Amino acid sequence: MANKPFLTDVKTLRKRARQHMEEGAVTPGYSADRQNVVKLLNDALATEIVCVLRYKRHYFMASGIHAQVAAEEFLQHATDEQGHADQIAQRIVQLGGEPNFSPEGLLTRSHAEYVEGGSLAEMIQEDLVAERIAIDSYREMARYLGEDDPTTRRMLETILAVEEEHADDMVNLLEKIGN
Ligand SMILES: [Fe+2]
Ligand SMILES: [Fe+2]
Repeated sequence: MANKPFLTDVKTLRKRARQHMEEGAVTPGYSADRQNVVKLLNDALATEIVCVLRYKRHYFMASGIHAQVAAEEFLQHATDEQGHADQIAQRIVQLGGEPNFSPEGLLTRSHAEYVEGGSLAEMIQEDLVAERIAIDSYREMARYLGEDDPTTRRMLETILAVEEEHADDMVNLLEKIGN
């Protein structure tokens, strides 16, 4: 323990950085299972895309006396989820993977479901369920990555915080419409 250096020495760091330069941000010090991380991120990407679609549907279909306030929230969330999808796709490319935008199998890859919902209350409830699924899966992914890929982990934690706000928004909205 006493002889164990805390940091990799400069010479080794420099040498390692020159190896596999075509891999860009992925250095030999990257200790996560990259293929698996890309797969997890592609599942998260599918989840975000499904959430964009569901919120858009709800935005256009919101009706009733509380329609306007709900529609504004739905639209804001759709925009946020699109931003998450972009961040995740960007990170996949940085890791040397390919973002999967294929509509084929989208719902199978996604953690969250696409439920249209009849009434406004049903829409909000379905959105709340989807947010809670996203929260659990992001928390689990962040824990899995730990110190092996801190950049991806931090990105997911930032997204997680927004999903928690989204869930809160849906709870408040449900209270507002009195259901
Ligand atoms: Fe999201
Ligand atoms: Fe969300």
